[in-house]
Amino acid sequence: MSVLEVKNVDKYYGTGDIAIKVLDGVSFSVEQNEFTAIMGPSGSGKTTLLNMISTIDTVSAGNIFINGMDITEEDEDVLSEFRGENLGFIFQDFNLLDILTVRENIELSLSIKGEKPIMTLEEISKLLGITEILDKYPKHISGGEKQRCAFARAFINSPKLILADEPTGSLDSNASRTILKSMELLKEKGATILVVTHDAFVSAWCDRVLFLRDGKIWKDLYKSEKTNREFYNKIVETMSVLGGDINDF
Ligand SMILES: Nc1ncnc2c1ncn2[C@@H]1O[C@H](COP(=O)(O)OP(=O)(O)O)[C@@H](O)[C@H]1O
Ligand SMILES: [Mg+2]
Repeated sequence: MSVLEVKNVDKYYGTGDIAIKVLDGVSFSVEQNEFTAIMGPSGSGKTTLLNMISTIDTVSAGNIFINGMDITEEDEDVLSEFRGENLGFIFQDFNLLDILTVRENIELSLSIKGEKPIMTLEEISKLLGITEILDKYPKHISGGEKQRCAFARAFINSPKLILADEPTGSLDSNASRTILKSMELLKEKGATILVVTHDAFVSAWCDRVLFLRDGKIWKDLYKSEKTNREFYNKIVETMSVLGGDINDF
């Protein structure tokens, strides 16, 4: 069974004459331990797609199965519990709460009754190299450290699927290196990640890149036997064919 199955998803914003179709017949699936990047020019529907899969926005048509459950058919009570037990989130600005320490921020996402996590907070902190900063507040740590905390928080509950929207955010180029290291570590632990990114370095590390254009899947590129460098070149080439300035991605 696929961890994620998106089937013929359409999304409209607005109604009647002013309705615009933002997603148009999007279908794909993601297997256990597969790392998938979503790329596409700005406005192509990446965040909208991620929001549907996150269960925080609803589809106009189509179905989305996560771990076999059709999330488009469930109501909010079921979904809120489902999110806590099956999904991990990494937001663009990392969403760490300023009034809590790093440790408390990570503990926030521990589910009350979920299964026992694969790793304890201490273990995951050691893995991601944030043990020393657990008792600091977010305003006293660097951007790269915040990023690693966000990864720890997304993974602490052993979610079936981790969703990340532009996790390199507005950080400098060191950020991609930090994120790649964190992704590598979580991959070894069996995580499954769907990441929206404009960063070809991040995509090149993934198993696969889905390119969106005008709300449709325009290309589904697999890394297969390619090296990171070869896949990176292929991705950059595809971005230029897809059109627009690379800075638009
Ligand atoms: N809540 C909304 N209401 C109306 N239009 C929206 C809304 N959210 C996104 N859109 C539109 O949907 C399109 C896709 O947006 P988005 O998914 O944010 O693209 P991306 O993340 O690829 O930049 C854009 O044209 C955007 O203006
Ligand atoms: Mg977006």
